[in-house]
Amino acid sequence: MRVAEKREGSSQGAGSMDDTPLMRELTRDHARRRQLEEVEFTSPEHTRIVTIANQKGGVGKTSTTVNLAAALTMGGLHVLVIDADPQGNTSTALNIEHHAEVPSMYEVLVESAPLSEVVQDVPDMERLQCAPATINLSGAEIELVSLVARENRLRNAIREHLEEREAQGLPRLDYVLVDCPPSLGLLTVNALVAAREVMIPIQAEYYALEGLGQLIETVEMVKAHLNPRLEISTILLTMYDGRTRLAAGVGDEVRSHFGDQVLKTVIPRSVRVSEAPSYAQTVMTYDPGSPGALSYWEAAREMASRAEVAVGSGEDEEGTA
Ligand SMILES: Nc1ncnc2c1ncn2[C@@H]1O[C@H](COP(=O)(O)OP(=O)(O)O)[C@@H](O)[C@H]1O
Ligand SMILES: [Mg+2]
Repeated sequence: MRVAEKREGSSQGAGSMDDTPLMRELTRDHARRRQLEEVEFTSPEHTRIVTIANQKGGVGKTSTTVNLAAALTMGGLHVLVIDADPQGNTSTALNIEHHAEVPSMYEVLVESAPLSEVVQDVPDMERLQCAPATINLSGAEIELVSLVARENRLRNAIREHLEEREAQGLPRLDYVLVDCPPSLGLLTVNALVAAREVMIPIQAEYYALEGLGQLIETVEMVKAHLNPRLEISTILLTMYDGRTRLAAGVGDEVRSHFGDQVLKTVIPRSVRVSEAPSYAQTVMTYDPGSPGALSYWEAAREMASRAEVAVGSGEDEEGTA
C-alpha cells in the first residue's frame, strides 16, 4: 500500500536514495511488473476446472478467484468464473449484475437452466465471463437435497456448457474457476464433484490450519464416492505479512504438510486487494502495479505453468470417469 502510493513520486530517486529499503522494494516491483507484462499464458490441453474451497470464511477464496481469473484472461486465456456463494461477492467484484431477478446459479443448479442462459460478460475484461450468484442461491442448499443427482448438477451443467460452446464454434474455455461458500454443504460438494482440481487458499494467520482436516476429509470423500479424479492441486497462502514471524511460521507449517502443492508465490496482505471490490474491480485492473496484483499475476503464472503436471497425467481415463 505505502509502496503503491509512493511509487510515482519516487522513481527519480538518485544516489544514496537508491539503497533505501523502499527503493529496493520499488525497483524489485518494477522489475517484476516488466517481466510479467510480457507473459502470455499457455493454453492448457484440456479445460481446467478448478474449485476454490475452504469452509472458513474470510481466507481469500473470492479475492483469489477473481484476481486469478483476471490475471489469466489478461494473459490471453478464456476464463469462466462460477459464483457458487449466495453472498455473491465474486459477482460484485467482477461488476456483474446479480440482484434477485437476474438468472443465476440458482436457476442452473435447482431448475436445470443451461449455464449459457446465466453467464454474463465481465465488463471491460475481454475473454472473462461470470455466472452470477444471487440471494436465491441461499435456498439451493436445502432445495438441492430432494433433487435427483443432487451432487452432480454443477458437473453436468459445466459439461453441457463446454459441449455447447464447442458445437457453436466458440473459443474453448481454458479455465473454469468455481468460488465456494464458506461451508461444506451441497453447494461446495457440487463444486468438488464438478472439478478436477481443488485450490485451497490458506490465510497466513494463527488458526490457519484449523478446520483443514475437515476440508481434506470432504475432498477425500468426494474423491472416493463421486469424483475419483479430484486432486488438491494447489495451496495458496494469502494475506501473508512478510514482516511477522507468525506468517513465516504458518508458511513453513503449510509447506511441510503439503509440499509441492503449495505455490511458491504468496499473496501479501495489501489494502489495494481489499479496496478493489468496492470499485467493482479486481486488483488487476484497479492497481495493476500494486504488490497484491503482482503477486496474483505470479500465482496465475505459476499455476498455469504447473498445468496438468500437478494433477498427474490421467487424461486417458477420460472415458471412464
Ligand atoms: N491479500 C489481501 N490483503 C488484504 N485484504 C485481503 C486480501 N485478500 C482478501 N482480503 C480481504 O479479506 C476479506 C476476506 O477475503 P475474501 O476473498 O472475501 O475471502 P473469502 O471469500 O474466503 O470469504 C475481504 O474483505 C477481502 O477484501
Ligand atoms: Mg467469498
